[in-house]
Amino acid sequence: MAAPRILSGIKPTGRPHLGNYFGMMQPAIAWQHKGEAFYFIADYHALTTVHDPAALRQHTRDAALDFLACGLDPAKAVLFRQSDVPEVTELAWLLTCLTPMPMLENCHAYKDHVAKGKIPSHGLFAYPVLMAADILLYNSNVVPVGKDQKQHVEVTRDLAEKTNRIFGEVFTIPEASIVPEMATVIGLDGQKMSKSHNNTIGLFEEEKALRKKVMGITTDSQPVEAPKDPATSSIVALYRLFASADDVATMEAQFRAGGIGYGDFKKRLFGAIWETFEPFRARRAALEADPTNVDTVLAEGAARARAVALPTIDRVRRAMGLR
Ligand code: AMP
Ligand code: TRP
Repeated sequence: MAAPRILSGIKPTGRPHLGNYFGMMQPAIAWQHKGEAFYFIADYHALTTVHDPAALRQHTRDAALDFLACGLDPAKAVLFRQSDVPEVTELAWLLTCLTPMPMLENCHAYKDHVAKGKIPSHGLFAYPVLMAADILLYNSNVVPVGKDQKQHVEVTRDLAEKTNRIFGEVFTIPEASIVPEMATVIGLDGQKMSKSHNNTIGLFEEEKALRKKVMGITTDSQPVEAPKDPATSSIVALYRLFASADDVATMEAQFRAGGIGYGDFKKRLFGAIWETFEPFRARRAALEADPTNVDTVLAEGAARARAVALPTIDRVRRAMGLR
């Protein structure tokens, strides 16, 4: 079998957090050795919320640096900016014409927005169609994402199957790849970690800020002596992402035994986070010292992405009767 095409994207709406890292970046980086990986910074998608041009440019650049610092190897994976291949918006239109409104009305980002009493933009409503275009334009087989994106990949599959039924075999049918233990990383307050919940731990926080956040993780009010429940603790849930199975087992046993306060466990968690990301911080500093490097990576990535995208869009135009 030919090497699979792997594709994923991250929205440049702020600095990445542990949920982004464990849910998507780390699995995506692992996939780069197993096929042809295409990873992009979804700046068109970010426009649904970011309306400050300088901020969008800065976040886009930061996202590229963060991805490279975490181990994305541009010799193996293609890293590009979504908007460097504007044909994706044309494909989004072509798919839009096949998309039933109820399918989008059922998508959670839109539903949550409406449930909060906010008025969604058409961009937010159509967001999953642009995401389908991202995935289908590059003939992707595997899409590594966190659980919150599963529904969008289902929409993509439905649209691809429908197009193929009507117009012939134009699209490859993709599949989401979700690492079960990383499917939903929880935040400081025990809810899903998310920028919109204000409960995130960033990958590249300053030491003092990181310590403060970790020490601020919500716990119950059990005293030091009392036995504690590791199964419901956010501290243990986060520690599991960083520590060896033995170290996790030790912490769980100490929770049950009592005699150690939450503050001590939090300090241990802080140490594990700080150490894990030490090499990434060093690599990021080195990347930042050479500002042309990231521009070169993105320019080369755009050229490689276009080489795949242009034949696909041409195939779809012809199949639909546009040429
Ligand atoms: P976004 O910042 O929305 O572009 O998200 C980028 C990637 O991170 C997506 O694949 C999300 O599924 C993933 N992600 C975001 N938050 C979490 C979380 N709390 N747990 C697991 N994955 C997440
Ligand atoms: N919607 C994704 C998110 O919010 C980002 C994204 C855009 C994406 N296009 C994609 C992810 C295509 C995977 C494949 O996280």
